[in-house]
Amino acid sequence: MRIVVHGGAGHTGEVQDGVETAVDIGWKLLGDGADAVSAAVASVVVLEDDSRFNAGTGACLRADGSVQTDAAVACNDGRLGTISVLEDIANPVQVARLVMDEDFDALAGKGALDYARSRGITTTTVIGSEKPWAGDTVGAVAQDSSGAIAVASSTGGIRGRLAGRVGDTPHWGGGLWTDAGVGIAATGVGEAISRRLLCFRVARMMADGLSVQKALEWGIALYPPDIVIGLIALSDTEGAGFSNSSMPWALRQD
Ligand code: GLY
Repeated sequence: MRIVVHGGAGHTGEVQDGVETAVDIGWKLLGDGADAVSAAVASVVVLEDDSRFNAGTGACLRADGSVQTDAAVACNDGRLGTISVLEDIANPVQVARLVMDEDFDALAGKGALDYARSRGITTTTVIGSEKPWAGDTVGAVAQDSSGAIAVASSTGGIRGRLAGRVGDTPHWGGGLWTDAGVGIAATGVGEAISRRLLCFRVARMMADGLSVQKALEWGIALYPPDIVIGLIALSDTEGAGFSNSSMPWALRQD
């Protein structure tokens, strides 16, 4: 079993304690027999509930002052659930988790909100964070005792971008990827991540024999230093996190 969690590319070490809390919650669940999806989602919920992070309650503001969030959950058994431009939900990753078990993969905007309500998720006013920068997307990748791997990510996007803009977080292959023996989550400038189909390409480097660490370094090296990017990943034998910026992250494994 193993789990790796990050608190967002560009965030500082001052919030490392929040990431440690999040990874410990997921790690304990795995130890108690929880599946990889439950562990990854639980870790991300901790970060969404901690307003120092750019997700859930601490999500950054759009150009019009609104708070719109994106989130994704995927399992290497083939399930994927994503939500985009979701408002008034404190834990968007829990909505993505529900979508994962539907016969569709993605919901956006009012439809996503109506769906969340219909599934019993409580709506609330999410004030978000007026901080100029509180890091980027948060995420977790977990592998349970059966060997299943799950990825969960959540974001407020990038401060000041247009309302309705969607970044990489719900972008399959760009912002997240999982398949046999691999799970990857990205954080950073969404357009740069999506255009390079980053997570899928890093997974291919792992399939070609690179270690997790070397594959992440390869992916980050695709970018100039002024484009903030970070990655976390697990294989069947190891886990790592890497960024061209500061990025609080933590790994637990047995
Ligand atoms: N990485 C999050 C975003 O660009 O929206």
